[in-house]
Amino acid sequence: MHRNLLIFCVVVLFVGAIIALSIRSVESQSDRVQRGKYLVEAVAACGYCHTPRAGAEYNMNMYLAGHPAGQAYPRYNFSMMQQGIFTLTSPQMSAFSGPFGTSFASNLTPDKETGLGEWTEEMFIGAMRTGLHQGVEGNRAILPPMPVKHYAQMNDEDLKAIWAYLKTIKPVKNEVNPPLNQRGRPY
Ligand code: HEC
Repeated sequence: MHRNLLIFCVVVLFVGAIIALSIRSVESQSDRVQRGKYLVEAVAACGYCHTPRAGAEYNMNMYLAGHPAGQAYPRYNFSMMQQGIFTLTSPQMSAFSGPFGTSFASNLTPDKETGLGEWTEEMFIGAMRTGLHQGVEGNRAILPPMPVKHYAQMNDEDLKAIWAYLKTIKPVKNEVNPPLNQRGRPY
């Protein structure tokens, strides 16, 4: 009889510990997502370039979805340098052209075909740390004005938090233009 009671107590403790641990991990995952949201919105201002404008306001239907497909974009011309012009931007403030070529803020939503849906956390952190496309050595550099030099200094925990948050936002299908070189050809 005593033995059964002992087994019962051990089982209860064991199950209790598993429940407590899983609640903790759910809590820490949701803390991480909250932290990521805070960083994206209030500190790193990712939407400043990655959420296109509709007039003066952000187009929230395209939250973090990048430069809208098919929209016009500016083209820099080196003679503009003499006029003191360095960077041009589209009315949505999501495409940029300068001496570096023309860049288009990418789609950061979890859409599988056009966003970061197929990316891994490793690719994301690699891109932010190295400033190379998808974080792969030998790939092209990520173009201005993406502030990689600054974001590269974030700690792992914050980059992981941003990644965790980006995975929770609404997927938006938007095929962003590939970047163009100074001659207007794909890199
Ligand atoms: C000042 C504008 C600006 C801000 C702010 C900005 N980005 Fe970007 N980002 C860009 C542009 C432009 C590109 C496209 C660059 C290219 O294609 O070379 C880009 C590209 C990226 C890419 C794709 C990199 C790759 O490997 O191709 C990721 C991921 C990214 N940004 C994440 C972020 C995150 C996360 C934040 C906030 C922490 C952020 N960006 C803030 C402008 C910006």
